[in-house]
Amino acid sequence: MCGIVGYTGAAPAEPILIEGLSRMEYRGYDSAGVAVQQGEAIEVVCRKGKVSELAHTLEHFDLDGTCGIGHTRWATHGKPSEANAHPHTSCAGDIAVVHNGIIENFAELREALIGRGHVFKSETDTEVVAHLVEEAYHRLREAGTGDLRAAVAEAASQLVGAYGLAVMAEGEPGTLIVCRKDSPIVVGRGEMGSYVASDIIAMIDATRDVVVLADDQMASLTAEGIAYFDMDGNPLEPEVTHVDWDIDVAEKGGYPDFMLKEIHEQPRVIRDTLAGRLSGGALTIDELDMTPAELNLIDRVYVIACGTSYHAGLIAKNLIEGWARIPCEVEVASEFRYRNPIITPTTLVVAVSQSGETADTLAAIRDARVRGAKVFGITNVVGSPVARESDGVIYTKANKEIAVASTKSFLGQVVSLTLLAMLLGQSTGRLTGGQIKLLFSELADTAEAVERILAECGPAVEEAARAMVDATSALFIGRGMGAATSYEGALKLKEISYLHAEAYAAGEMKHGPIALIDENFPVVAIATDSPVYDKVVSNLQESRARGACIIAVATEGDEDIAKHADHVIYIPKVRDAFSPITASVPLQLLSREVAVLRGCDVDQPRNLAKSVTVE
Ligand code: AGP
Repeated sequence: MCGIVGYTGAAPAEPILIEGLSRMEYRGYDSAGVAVQQGEAIEVVCRKGKVSELAHTLEHFDLDGTCGIGHTRWATHGKPSEANAHPHTSCAGDIAVVHNGIIENFAELREALIGRGHVFKSETDTEVVAHLVEEAYHRLREAGTGDLRAAVAEAASQLVGAYGLAVMAEGEPGTLIVCRKDSPIVVGRGEMGSYVASDIIAMIDATRDVVVLADDQMASLTAEGIAYFDMDGNPLEPEVTHVDWDIDVAEKGGYPDFMLKEIHEQPRVIRDTLAGRLSGGALTIDELDMTPAELNLIDRVYVIACGTSYHAGLIAKNLIEGWARIPCEVEVASEFRYRNPIITPTTLVVAVSQSGETADTLAAIRDARVRGAKVFGITNVVGSPVARESDGVIYTKANKEIAVASTKSFLGQVVSLTLLAMLLGQSTGRLTGGQIKLLFSELADTAEAVERILAECGPAVEEAARAMVDATSALFIGRGMGAATSYEGALKLKEISYLHAEAYAAGEMKHGPIALIDENFPVVAIATDSPVYDKVVSNLQESRARGACIIAVATEGDEDIAKHADHVIYIPKVRDAFSPITASVPLQLLSREVAVLRGCDVDQPRNLAKSVTVE
C-alpha cells in the first residue's frame, strides 16, 4: 500500500521526508517522490524504484525548504514509472498532491477536466485531485472567498472512493492541508514542527502524541501548529492519542504479531487486487500483454509453484477448467523442473511466487521458456526475478508480507488466479459478458465477507484452537474447492504450530487415513455450502463414529452441521468457486491461535525462511 509523509517546520524537510518514507518501505511500493517548497516554488523529484534511489538523486538537488510532502506508490492506475509516481501537480505546477487510496470516478473527472483545458502528465487517478484543487483554489482566491483548505474540501467533495490526501500550494508557503476518507491519515506536533503520515511509524521519532483523523476531517499544518476542521470548514477539537508502542509494535500496527496484522489486511488486498480490472463489462489484465485472440489459442495450462503458492494453484485448476474448459495441471516447481513436461507453443505456464525469488520456481520458469511456453508470473514483489523473467506478470497487491507464514499473499494469489481464470473464460467465449460481470461483483463481495469473518469468528476459532492444542496430529478434509482449501489449512498449522497436520480429499478417508482416527486425532472439515456438502457430512460422520473431535468450517445458517461437529466456525455464504477465499481465513486464524497457545514464535517459525532462494 502507498505511504504518505509530510512536514512543515523549522528544519529542512527533505531528510525528514526521506526518513519517513524509509520507515514505510516495509509496506511495499514501486516508486517514490517528494515535493519541497523552495522559496516561492514547489520542486518535485520522483524516482521509480527504492527510496534509497530517490535519496541518491536528491543529493544532486539543493533542497533546503522546510515544508514538503512525500510518497511511496504501489501502482493501481498506471504502471510503475517516474511519471506516475507522486507527488502530482497541477497544470501550472503550483499545487502538489500525494494520495493514498483509489478514486473510483477518476475517469469521468479526468475527461471533464481535459474538456476544461487541463493537461495531464500521468495515467494516475490521483492527478485529477491536483487539477481539481487548482481550479477551486484560483477561483476562491480571485473571489476572495477561500483558501487552500477550502479548495481541497471542494475538490474532495467531488471524489468517489477512498483517499488520504496531503496538499501544498505555492500561494500558501509553509502550509499543508490534509484530509481523509477510508484511508488513514495521522498528524502530530513535534519539537521541530508539524508532521503528517499515513502510518504512525513514519513520524514516531518526532512525536508520540498524534491525532488520527476520522473520515471527512481535515487538518491545516503550519510550522506554528495544527488546526482541525470538518469538510465545511468548521473547527474541530479532535482527541489526541498517545502512542507508547516501541517501533517494533508500531510496525505491527498494534497487533501482537505480523501474521495477525497481515490476516486482517486481507479485505484490502482483495479490493486492491480487483481495482481497475473490470471496465465496460470486460475484464482486462493489460500486464499480460496478450490479445484475446492469442489467449484463445492456449490449449494447456500448467500452474507451477511451491508451498502455499502451490495451494493457490490447486484452487485455480478448478476455476480454469470450469470456466475456460482448458486442461490445467498444477505442479510443485521442484518436480516440474526435473521432468519432461509436455509443452508446446500454445502452452501457458503460470508461475506463482509471493517472494518472486523461489529458486525452484525460477528454474521451472526458465525451463518452460526454453521449451517454448509462454510464462505468466504472479508475484507480490515488483521487479523480482519471477517478474523479470516472465513474459507477463500480475502483481498481487498484498504489500510486503513479513510473517513467514503466507496469508495475505495467498489470498492475493487466489484472487489474481481467479481473475486469470475468468479472463481465459472470457477469451475462449465460454463466459459471457453478463457472467463476467456477475462473477466479478460476487468476487468483490468476498472482501466484505472476509471483513465479517475477521470481526465475528474470533470466539469460535479460540474454542476450536483449545480443542486441538494438545493433539499430536490433525487431519484437514474437504471436497472440491474445500479439498484445495484444506491443503493450505494443514500447511499453515504445521508450519507455525509444529503440530503435525495432513490434508486429504475427504473421499480418500476410507482408503487409508481413517485408520489414524481416534479421540486424540482432531479432524478439521471444510463443510461449506457446495454441491458436495452431503458427501463431506458423511465423511464427518465416519470420523466422528471413531471418536474424532470434529471442527467444521460451515456456512452461516447451516444449523444441521452442529449435529455432526463438536465445534463449528460459521462463515458467510459465497459462491462455491470463491469459498477458498473465505474458508481460508478461519483456518489461518485457527493455526495462529494454536501456535500462540503452544508458545510458538508465530512470525518466525523454526527452520523456515520467507524466501527460499536455494534449491
Ligand atoms: C507459506 O506459508 C510458506 N512460507 C511457504 O510454503 C511458501 O509459500 C513457499 O516457500 C513458496 O514461496 P513463494 O511464494 O515466495 O515462492
